[in-house]
Amino acid sequence: MSQADQTLVEGSPKLRQLLSCIADDLSAVEQRLQSELHSRVPQVDEVVRHGYRLGGKRLRPALVLLAGQATGELSDEHLTLAAVVEMIHTATLVHDDVLDEAQLRRHEDTVNARWNNETSVLLGDFLFSHSFYLASTTGSAEACQTIGRATNVVCEGEMQQTLSEGDFGLSQADYLAIITAKTAELCACCCELGARQSGADDATIERLASFGRNLGIAFQIADDLLDLMSDEKATGKTTGADLAKRKMTLPLIHARDALVNGPRANFVDLLESADLERIRAQVKLLGSLDYANRMATNYARRAAADLAELPANPALESLVGLANFAAARTS
Ligand code: IPE
Ligand code: IPE
Ligand code: MG
Ligand code: MG
Repeated sequence: MSQADQTLVEGSPKLRQLLSCIADDLSAVEQRLQSELHSRVPQVDEVVRHGYRLGGKRLRPALVLLAGQATGELSDEHLTLAAVVEMIHTATLVHDDVLDEAQLRRHEDTVNARWNNETSVLLGDFLFSHSFYLASTTGSAEACQTIGRATNVVCEGEMQQTLSEGDFGLSQADYLAIITAKTAELCACCCELGARQSGADDATIERLASFGRNLGIAFQIADDLLDLMSDEKATGKTTGADLAKRKMTLPLIHARDALVNGPRANFVDLLESADLERIRAQVKLLGSLDYANRMATNYARRAAADLAELPANPALESLVGLANFAAARTS
C-alpha cells in the first residue's frame, strides 16, 4: 500500500471520529469517484487514476454529507454532489501545483512532477468538465448553478493571488479576500449543496453556507501556517511554497505590520531572500504565529455560531468539531 493509500485508509484518528456518522456514505463516495474517473485510453487512465487515488482528507465531500444529514435525510444525490465537489477540489489542486511549482501532494509526486505542466493543465480540465457533467446528472439546475458560480470564484481567488505575488505590502483585508475566494467559497458551496439537497429552508441553507465559509477561512489560515512552520513529512505536500512564490500570508502580514521604518524594510528584505529559518524565528518573536492561530480559532468560533440556532444532532456536532479541527490541524 502506498503512503497515500495508507493516509486515506487511516486518516487522522480525530478526523475519523468526527466523520464516523457518515463513514459508510464516505466510502460510497469513494466508490463513486473510482467508477466515474477513468479513461478508455490507458495512458490517460494512469494520469486520471493518479489524480483521484491521491489520499486526501475528503473534507469537502464530508461537508456535503454532514450538512445534508444535519438538516434532513441523505440521498443518492448527496453522494453524487459529494463526488462532484471532490473532483472540483482535486482539479484546483492539480492546477495549483503548477502555479506553485510543487513537487509533492498527498505524500506522492504531483502530476506536474511525475508528468509535466501540460498534463496537469489537461487533467485539471478533465476533472472540471467531468464534475460539471456529473452534477448535471442530479437534474438540479440550482445545484449546477451553485457549483458553477463557486468554481468561478475559486478561480478568481487563485488569479488574484497569482497577480499579488511579490506584493509584500498586501493588506490583511486583501489576504482575507483571497482566501475567502480560493478556499472558503468551495467549503460554503459544499454546505449549501448538502442542506439544499435535504430540503432545508433558505435561512438554514444560508446559515450552513456561512458556516462553510468561516470554516474555509480557518482552514486556509491553518494551511498557511503549516506551509511556513511544518514539514513535508507531516503535511505530505511541498512546504515553504508560499515564501518561494513570494506570497504574503497572515503571519507574515502581522509581522510586517508589527514593525516600522528600518526594521520593517529589513523584514521585507528577509522575505525577498526567502530565508525560511530566519523568517520563522522573526514571526515567532513578533507573536505572529499566535496571532494567526488566534485568527483561525476565531473563524472556527464564528462557524460554530452560525449553527448555534439550529436543532442539535450528531451531524451538526460533527460540523462544529470539523471547524475546530480545520483551525487546529497539524497536517
Ligand atoms: C488543500 O486542501 C488545499 C487548500 C485549500 C489549502 P486539503 O488540505 O483539504 O487537501 P486534501 O484534499 O486533504 O489533500
Ligand atoms: C490553494 O492554496 C488552494 C486552492 C484553492 C487550490 P495553497 O496553494 O495554499 O494550497 P496547497 O498548500 O498547495 O494545498
Ligand atoms: Mg499550493
Ligand atoms: Mg498551502
